[in-house]
Amino acid sequence: MKRPRIHLTAPRNWLNDPVGFCVYRGEYHLFYQHFPYAPRWGTMHWGHAVSLDLAHWEQRPIALFPTCEDDKNGCFSGSAIECDGKLLLYYTGVRYNKTPPKDIHVAQNEDYVSCQMCLESADGKTFDNFSKKRVVIPTQSNPSIGHPTDTRDPKVWREKDWYYMLLGSRCQLAETGENAPELLLYRSADGMSWELHSRVAHKNLGFMWECPDLFRVNQRSVLSISPMRIGPAGSHPDLAMCGLITAEPSSGRFNLNDTKFKVIDAGLDYYAPQSTLDMQGRRIQIGWLRSPCPLPGMDWIGVISLPRVVSVRDGQICFSLHPNIKRLFRRQVTLSKANMEGPLLLRAEFPNDSRLDLGGLLLSFRDGIFTADRSKVFPCQPPYPSRLSIRISSGPCTAEIVVDSGVVEIYLNDGEAVLSTLVYSPSPCISGTGLTHLECLCESTIDAPYTD
Ligand code: FRU
Repeated sequence: MKRPRIHLTAPRNWLNDPVGFCVYRGEYHLFYQHFPYAPRWGTMHWGHAVSLDLAHWEQRPIALFPTCEDDKNGCFSGSAIECDGKLLLYYTGVRYNKTPPKDIHVAQNEDYVSCQMCLESADGKTFDNFSKKRVVIPTQSNPSIGHPTDTRDPKVWREKDWYYMLLGSRCQLAETGENAPELLLYRSADGMSWELHSRVAHKNLGFMWECPDLFRVNQRSVLSISPMRIGPAGSHPDLAMCGLITAEPSSGRFNLNDTKFKVIDAGLDYYAPQSTLDMQGRRIQIGWLRSPCPLPGMDWIGVISLPRVVSVRDGQICFSLHPNIKRLFRRQVTLSKANMEGPLLLRAEFPNDSRLDLGGLLLSFRDGIFTADRSKVFPCQPPYPSRLSIRISSGPCTAEIVVDSGVVEIYLNDGEAVLSTLVYSPSPCISGTGLTHLECLCESTIDAPYTD
């Protein structure tokens, strides 16, 4: 698979969650979970990239790496905010209790402890890993409140006079002693000394919730979570989900009882998303597009999705393609000249019983169900399913499809549903059957706006 051009990947080796996504000093900063030594997961660092427009990314040196006892085995996911002109990176430091004799980059039997840490950077360019880190929340010591291993991924924001930190965790339910995923909400006046403000557990949505994110959009509170061990049979067990909740951080009041969580991306490979406000004040989210394996010759693995604008329409959470990405595509090309290498933006309207063949990725719409069959272009060993489908509220179904080398993102009915997948070795051709509309645009310039 060739490297995508408008999707961020690591310069080499492994990438997973997007972290620390923010605007700071007029630039978008995006960090990512990174193992710089091999195309597999291992001791976590924070890779770093910056952008002026969310479409062209410039890699910067690795920002965070293990240096002290509390993060000696990894700097897990977290977030970034500006505070008094400085950039604060909040993350989970991990320390393994034991490693297998031949691999110091993983914990034996998942036996490790976590704590929440902060690194302060004066300018967003230099990150002094040796003297600017501190532990802000120590390892959980009471399992009925939070788990010493599985408490992680601080999402920090400021509201009125307080800083809030949301953590994913799990606990033992007092009534039954059973394990339940939960959220811990901490509060701080200065961003450094934190107190537990409230917590809420959920009885039946996975084992623990990773990468929680809570934000307001269209006067509603949206919770985005990555529950572990929740996926439907035949899919990856860990899936990113979202739902509308009642939440009032100032009083610590949370209500998840009436929430219907839905899978964010029907491709089932989108995980650990994180949001921020863009420079125009839109709530935008990006996630990790995970994939089973690098192909021979690929020295990298893991893709960050395109930014998606989050909105709530008719009580539904929608994820639409960001206008900065749409704006890249201004030149119409005839289908016979279009190539799956891209980048391309296709606009299509699928009436009932219509199809689009994207280099072997077979898209179809029938009886209200949109399906992507990737069996010809994806190494579909379990848990990666070959057929992905999603019910659409009403037809015909309109689609905006971005093709960027090995990545395809499909936005249906302006974000009512999204389906993203990686495609390995697609054929170059694109053809439609029964579509009422199909147009293809390529970017007119891909030059980065950086001049240095
Ligand atoms: C989600 C996750 C996070 C964790 C990080 C480690 O993919 O498991 O919970 O902080 O990845 O890389």
